[in-house]
Amino acid sequence: MLSGGRTRIAEALKSAQKDTEITVKGWVRTKRGNKNVAFIALNDGSTINNIQIVAEPEKFGEELLARVTTGACLRVTGLLVESQGSGQGVEIQAREIEIYGEADPADYPLQKKGHSLEFLREIAYLRPRTNTFGAVLRIRHAMAFAIHNYFNDRGFYYMHTPLITASDAEGAGAMFQVTTLDVNNPPRTEKGRPDYSQDFFGKHTSLTVSGQLEGELGALALGQIYTFGPTFRAENSNTPRHLAEFWMIEPEVAFYGLEDDMNLAEDFLKYLIGYALEHCADDLAFLEKMYDEELTARLRSIVDNDFVRLDYTDGIEILKAAVAGGHKFEFPVDWGLDLQSEHERYLVEQHFKKPVILVNYPASIKAFYMKLNAPDAAGRETVQAMDVLFPRIGEIIGGSVREESYTKLKNKIDAQGMSEAELWWYMDTRRWGSAPHAGFGLGFERLMLFVTGMANIRDVIPFPRTPKNADY
Ligand code: 4AD
Ligand code: MG
Repeated sequence: MLSGGRTRIAEALKSAQKDTEITVKGWVRTKRGNKNVAFIALNDGSTINNIQIVAEPEKFGEELLARVTTGACLRVTGLLVESQGSGQGVEIQAREIEIYGEADPADYPLQKKGHSLEFLREIAYLRPRTNTFGAVLRIRHAMAFAIHNYFNDRGFYYMHTPLITASDAEGAGAMFQVTTLDVNNPPRTEKGRPDYSQDFFGKHTSLTVSGQLEGELGALALGQIYTFGPTFRAENSNTPRHLAEFWMIEPEVAFYGLEDDMNLAEDFLKYLIGYALEHCADDLAFLEKMYDEELTARLRSIVDNDFVRLDYTDGIEILKAAVAGGHKFEFPVDWGLDLQSEHERYLVEQHFKKPVILVNYPASIKAFYMKLNAPDAAGRETVQAMDVLFPRIGEIIGGSVREESYTKLKNKIDAQGMSEAELWWYMDTRRWGSAPHAGFGLGFERLMLFVTGMANIRDVIPFPRTPKNADY
């Protein structure tokens, strides 16, 4: 009743009911053959695998079959039979072919196999029709589903946090302004600045960089929540690992400390990667064959090995020893400096050869809300931050224990020159029924990069948003 009058090709290929008539609908990948017989490879997106349609020109006429070209959309009704050719389980002997939409070979862009990923980015509106993006999009769906599954099974509530926010406070990055004021001629204050009191929300607003601050409000009522939504960062970062619009998963848990937060992050990542290995085998096999011969071995090694847990201070010592031993980094290594992706990847790929959870970073390079440790032996301030570093990716998760003391949080806000007035609602949670709590953020496309083995983050989201690029 809900099938659209067709059998999905994924089901047809698995079907044990040979010699029955079925209808499939999909897009032509290739057509080959001769005067006597045509072989059409049809794909409907339900699987990476095509079904072979066998059609006799004698029965359908040369004219109709000439219109069956790469990219055309068809309905085919016919007998599902054991395939004559080797390597194909079943095929369909066509009885009826209806052409829904032609694709003129003179201008349909997806002609030959093996278009470059760069070219496909330029026609991102069509690339879901390719094998590669079919595989990536099916895996993306499976990962989103697995994320909800994981948290639902463990009693976490999915919380929707706002995308439009009046607080610039997270400090996670530059923000996109949201306004309905006429940018060419805004109303002005006495000082000549745009008067946001006349803007849509009566104040200056932006797209959110994270759902965390609102997520904390949820955790301090429901106990354990997660968010899963788009976030926006207006940095001009043209790298294979940054998007201006990306999706983030942010669990936030009351009564969690640093150890609990690390345990959750490690268990969660292992679950997701294990889920992909179990449920996306065909698509992973295709990506492994095309792009990355170590893909499934790398995924398996994450599931099978414990992550290393390391203090930032010890990480710096390892990196300094590497420099002393002749290793060249582009960026300097010193206690108090933030790690660059080259440093993260050295620790993970060369030193430990395993994922690393780096903890207890210098307070000065981390966000205001992270919980302070007692000063270390050298009197240096650190916070209970936790970054999970992955091979090929660098930082895949960033998280921390949150400062639950009103006084310490207020000192932090003052020290960082932030406005308490803007964060009054967040501060209030520390005045009434405050509780220890912790959480983290997983970048969904960083996870997708790792799971698919793709090299560029623009190739794991349907419509990437990057500097100077918002087509489609
Ligand atoms: O480390 P970040 O900035 O942490 C937060 O936003 C916290 N509020 C999370 C929390 O504790 N609830 O970002 C979290 C993760 C990063 O580890 C990375 O995987 C991803 O988000 N990420 C990006 N992914 C794609 N493009 C970008 N520009 C990204 N910036 C961060
Ligand atoms: Mg981070």
